[in-house]
Amino acid sequence: MDYINEINRLRKEKNAVILAHYYQIPEIQDIADFVGDSLDLSRKSADTSADIIVFAGVKFMAETAKILSPGKKVLIPDLNAGCSLADSCPPAEFRKFREKYPDHMVVSYVNTTAEIKAMTDICCTSTNAVKVLESIPQEQKIIFAPDRNLGSYLSRITGRDMVLWDGACHVHEEFSLVRIMEIKDKYPDAKLISHPECQKPILIASDFIGSTSALLKFTDSDSSKEYIVATESGILHQMKKQNPGKLFLPAPPIDSTCGCSDCIFMKMHTIRKIYHSLMEDKFEIDVDPVIRQKAVIPIRRMLEISG
Ligand code: 13P
Ligand code: SF4
Repeated sequence: MDYINEINRLRKEKNAVILAHYYQIPEIQDIADFVGDSLDLSRKSADTSADIIVFAGVKFMAETAKILSPGKKVLIPDLNAGCSLADSCPPAEFRKFREKYPDHMVVSYVNTTAEIKAMTDICCTSTNAVKVLESIPQEQKIIFAPDRNLGSYLSRITGRDMVLWDGACHVHEEFSLVRIMEIKDKYPDAKLISHPECQKPILIASDFIGSTSALLKFTDSDSSKEYIVATESGILHQMKKQNPGKLFLPAPPIDSTCGCSDCIFMKMHTIRKIYHSLMEDKFEIDVDPVIRQKAVIPIRRMLEISG
């Protein structure tokens, strides 16, 4: 079967839109109606006039789309596409943690479950985190969840002392500085560019730090020709497409023979699964209405602040 033809027919027939995160496989990025980072995708899902959103990303992203557009059908091609970072912050434990700091506001990264968002004052993504923190009065105490690496990076650059939840992402925690330096030996002019979910030694050694879209913009405008990219390898597809004359090398993790850095969850989706998702309206994402009513508030605040 020609899956791409069928996907094109079905998305037209059903007034569906396919949103894909930069960490998806190249084939999915190429057929998506829109490709972006987590902030772009939440904006798109709030604005779309489609009846169905097929979300080629992880579950918390599809949940965010459903929270913002409860009247739309939100589908995820593989229901197992979770997120190790979101899983590192279980709601019951977070509730107890929050109770220890009653005078603190909660800022949480969008990489959380809807339940955590329902306990949050303002959400953020790595693109708008600084803007979100700057919108909060200096004297206000803050709990930042769930990523300890992003949280401590934000503390360093904004000078705010925040209480951090001890969570992390399995992809960004794993980069090996030793292996990155081995690549540097071979490509001394290559710039190291990193996502702020990476650990501190990687960030300190980096020439540029930013969200997926910020890294992409940087490689578009920067004059260097070679880069070592410390984030999920899916982003290299757009970097190569937009800059065919430049060399992009994925930063290697500690424990891998392939030298690549894939998010197992993001990489669960395939073209065939997208076809089945559109064809059979599966797998539908639903959010408990009580949780949704609370969770939509910090997401909307974030969208207002980030413009
Ligand atoms: P972005 O906010 O940069 O899209 O990152 C999302 C993510 O899952 C990072 O691992
Ligand atoms: Fe979650 Fe990490 Fe995958 Fe991003 S790369 S979706 S933070 S597990």
